[in-house]
Amino acid sequence: MKVLVVGSGAREHAIAWKLRQSPRLTGLFIAPGNAGTAAIAENLPVKASDIDGICDAAKQRSIDLVVVGPEDPLARGLVDRLVDLGIAAFGPTQSAARIESSKAFSKELLFANDIPTAAAETFTSRIDARNYVEKKSGPMVVKADGLAAGKGVFMCESREDALRAIDRMMGDEAIFGASGSTVIIEEHLSGREVSAHAFCDGKTVAPMPFSCDYKRARDGDQGLNTGGMGAYSPALWLDEADETFIHKNITEAAIKAMADAGTPYSGVLYPGLMVTDEGPKVIEFNCRLGDPEAQVLLPRLKSDLLEICWAAANQKLAEAEIEWSADACVGVVMASGGYPEDYETGFEIAGLGSLEEEVMVFHAGTALGEAGRIVTNGGRVLTVVAKAASLQAARAKAYSNVRRIHFSKVHYRKDIAAPAQDARVD
Ligand code: AMP
Ligand code: GLY
Repeated sequence: MKVLVVGSGAREHAIAWKLRQSPRLTGLFIAPGNAGTAAIAENLPVKASDIDGICDAAKQRSIDLVVVGPEDPLARGLVDRLVDLGIAAFGPTQSAARIESSKAFSKELLFANDIPTAAAETFTSRIDARNYVEKKSGPMVVKADGLAAGKGVFMCESREDALRAIDRMMGDEAIFGASGSTVIIEEHLSGREVSAHAFCDGKTVAPMPFSCDYKRARDGDQGLNTGGMGAYSPALWLDEADETFIHKNITEAAIKAMADAGTPYSGVLYPGLMVTDEGPKVIEFNCRLGDPEAQVLLPRLKSDLLEICWAAANQKLAEAEIEWSADACVGVVMASGGYPEDYETGFEIAGLGSLEEEVMVFHAGTALGEAGRIVTNGGRVLTVVAKAASLQAARAKAYSNVRRIHFSKVHYRKDIAAPAQDARVD
C-alpha cells in the first residue's frame, strides 16, 4: 500500500515512523516533511495547506491512503476532495472538522448533548460582547471562533483584560482576521489538563491512552503559550472513574452526536480536558492528533498504524487490532532560543548519531544544509522521546539524550514529567 502523510512537524515524523513499520507498506511519501522524514520517506515539495497540490501529488503517485496530520488542510476540506477522487483518507471531512475549526459549533454540540464543558456565550457583535463582559467579574477566557494557529485563546484575569481581547479580535486590528469576527467568552476552569485521543470511523470509537502536554515556554508553566514543549503518557494521576467518564460521556457521546447530526466523525478525535473538582470538562475538541502528544503515544502503539488508519478510513475500525504497550513515554521538545517569539535558524544540529536505544528523535523545524548537515529551520526543532518501564525512567533517559544533542541557542524545558514539580505525575 502506498501512503502519503500530510504535514511537516514532529507529529507527522512520528506518524511516518510508525507507518514505516507496517509490512503492508510499499511506498511512503510526505508533503512537505522535514530533514528527519527525508530519511524514512520521500519528501514532496507541496505545502500541507495546498489542497490542489496534495490531490495532484496523490493522483500522480497512485497513493492508496492519505494520512492528514494538521487541522488546517482538514478544515479546508482535503478529505472530501480525496474521497471524491476515490482515494482513501484518514481524517474528518470538512463539516466534521468544524468540531475544531469552529469553537461556536463545538460549544453548541457540547451544550445540546449535555457533555460537560465551561459555561460560555458566543458573540458576533463587539458591542454585545463588551456589554456581556461589563456585567461579569473575575477571570474569563476569550476565544476566537475560528482557527488561529493555537493563539486564539486569551486567559483574562480581569474585566479590563477581557475587553482588550475583544477589541483586538473584533475591532479594526482584527488580529485573527475572520477567525476572530465571532468570539466565545467562557468561564475559567481550574484543575489539571489531560489530553484524550481516540481513533474513530464515524461509529466505532477506540480510545488511546491518556497523555499530558506542556504548553508554556518556560519551566513551572511560566512564559508564553507555545505549540507544546513536551508531553508524557500515561497520565497515572487520572483515576479510573474519570477515565471511564471521559470515554463514555465525552468521547463516545461526541461521536454519537456527530453521527446523529449527519456529520459522522472519522479520524482522530482529541478532546482537550480539564479535570475539575466537579469532574472532567471539555476545554476544546481537536480534529487530529496532538503535537507533542502524538510523539509519546505512537511509540506506545504495539499494533500496525497503517491497518488502523485503513480500517478507520473504510468504516471498519471495529475489526482492527489495537494494542498498547504498558511502557511509559516522555517527550522533550528542543526549540530555537526565543521561540515562540523571534528566533534565528540555520544552526547545525550535532549529536543526532549518538543516542541510546529506545530513544526516538522526531524532527519538526529541521532542514538539510550543506554537505548533508542537518540545520535548524523553525521554532520547535526536535522532540526527543524515550520509552521505558516507568515515567521516571523514561524521563531520565529522555533528558540524558537531550543533553547529547547540540545547536546554538537551544531552549528546552527541564521539568517535563518532573515529579518534584508535580507530585502526581508518577
Ligand atoms: P487552545 O489554544 O484552545 O488549545 O487553548 C490553550 C489553553 O488555554 C488550553 O490548553 C488551556 O490551558 C487554556 N484554556 C482554554 N480554555 C480554558 C478555560 N475555559 N479555563 C481554563 N483554561 C482554559
Ligand atoms: N498539544 C496541543 C495541540 O496539539 O493542540
